[in-house]
Amino acid sequence: MRLSGKSIIVTGAAGGIGEGIARRLAEEGAQVIVNDLDADRGEGVAASIRASGGQATFFAADVTRSADMKALVEAAVQRHGKLDAMVNNAGWTHRNQPALDVSEEEFDRCYAVNVKSIYLSTVHAVPHLRANGGGSFINIAS
Ligand SMILES: NC(=O)c1ccc[n+]([C@@H]2O[C@H](COP(=O)([O-])OP(=O)(O)OC[C@H]3O[C@@H](n4cnc5c(N)ncnc54)[C@H](O)[C@@H]3O)[C@@H](O)[C@H]2O)c1
Repeated sequence: MRLSGKSIIVTGAAGGIGEGIARRLAEEGAQVIVNDLDADRGEGVAASIRASGGQATFFAADVTRSADMKALVEAAVQRHGKLDAMVNNAGWTHRNQPALDVSEEEFDRCYAVNVKSIYLSTVHAVPHLRANGGGSFINIAS
């Protein structure tokens, strides 16, 4: 229970690596906000963590949108009274293919989900980490 009482957001946690991170953090006692675009799977992950004795709730937000990221961070502060750590895990890519076949829309989405989200997270989460006297800002990349 090394993270007992810690308030932590994990983005893109409705499946894959993010789900694994959220489950592990909850096993260590953290109060986890499971974020994703996919509400059905995300609610399911949070419910499953609670059923296992952990603390987790779901919050739907698109990490490429500033207003969504702001609301996500504020949800953690409202639900837990503070934010201790932000795990930027949400990611997206197109299937492997020649660059000439990648559409401009796919290219822009790749940068928005994988890169712009880190900027938006910095803008909205870091002030709360500072107000809390410190914290962890963790970015999962590929
Ligand atoms: N799978 C790998 O081999 C691998 C290797 C190295 C790094 N990574 C990194 O790990 C992270 C997770 O990868 P994964 O393989 O678990 O991916 P995944 O596709 O299984 O999960 C990503 C999750 O992010 C969510 N998501 C996508 N766009 C979003 C948005 N705009 N807002 C909120 N949520 C959104 C998806 O709904 C999904 O649940 C990514 O950042 C990826 O770059 C993955």
